[in-house]
Amino acid sequence: MHRYVVTGTDTDVGKTVFAAGLAGHLGGRYWKPVQAGMDGETDSQRVAELSGGRAQVLPEAYALRTPCSPHQAARLDGVTIEPSRLSLPSGEEPLVVEGAGGVLVPFADNLLAADLFAMWGLPVIVVARTALGTINHSLLSIEALRVRGLTIHGVAFVGEANPESEAAIVRLGEVRHLGCLPHLDPLTAETLAAAFAAHIRTDLL
Ligand SMILES: Nc1ncnc2c1ncn2[C@@H]1O[C@H](COP(=O)(O)OP(=O)(O)OP(=O)(O)O)[C@@H](O)[C@H]1O
Ligand SMILES: [Mg+2]
Repeated sequence: MHRYVVTGTDTDVGKTVFAAGLAGHLGGRYWKPVQAGMDGETDSQRVAELSGGRAQVLPEAYALRTPCSPHQAARLDGVTIEPSRLSLPSGEEPLVVEGAGGVLVPFADNLLAADLFAMWGLPVIVVARTALGTINHSLLSIEALRVRGLTIHGVAFVGEANPESEAAIVRLGEVRHLGCLPHLDPLTAETLAAAFAAHIRTDLL
């Protein structure tokens, strides 16, 4: 079953770009359950563009105005994020679910991103930078996922290849290396699909 949660070591690491490549590759659905920040392009709009129409973008369960942690964005909008409204979309078609920020981002006072991942029970893909600091951030994220009993499908890197750091994460974190997506300029549906096919281990997806 091609259903994955895409999380990251941090905000802005490239989850949405990777998720667009993945959903486009699988010809499946993309779901951003909680979007915090409605000015400018949302992650769902970005995926619709970057998948070149090959992904079906599902509506968010919560679209919150302020670009900050979901629990805070919800509070500012006067709503509480309820896990019961965040059940996985049904259906057997491939599904890519993008979290917000990283693994321990709060969605409500007693609800972390990892708690939602555990509720969904899908294998998790961790998107990580290749730049300095990635070993620590990646191993912390892996440990936080494992301690909650989550299955890590692998780590996908974004940025200029850094074989030593990537190898350290694979060895110390005991995870699979799903490939390294280079920085793309221009970043378009076409360049992303080509880079995804060339640099990501699609045989493992
Ligand atoms: N492979 C890439 N090539 C070029 N630009 C990229 C690439 N990956 C990410 N970016 C750019 O980096 C920025 C952050 O990427 P992205 O939005 O995918 O991060 P994110 O982890 O989804 O962030 P958030 O936590 O806000 O959801 C965006 O401007 C995006 O276009
Ligand atoms: Mg994103």
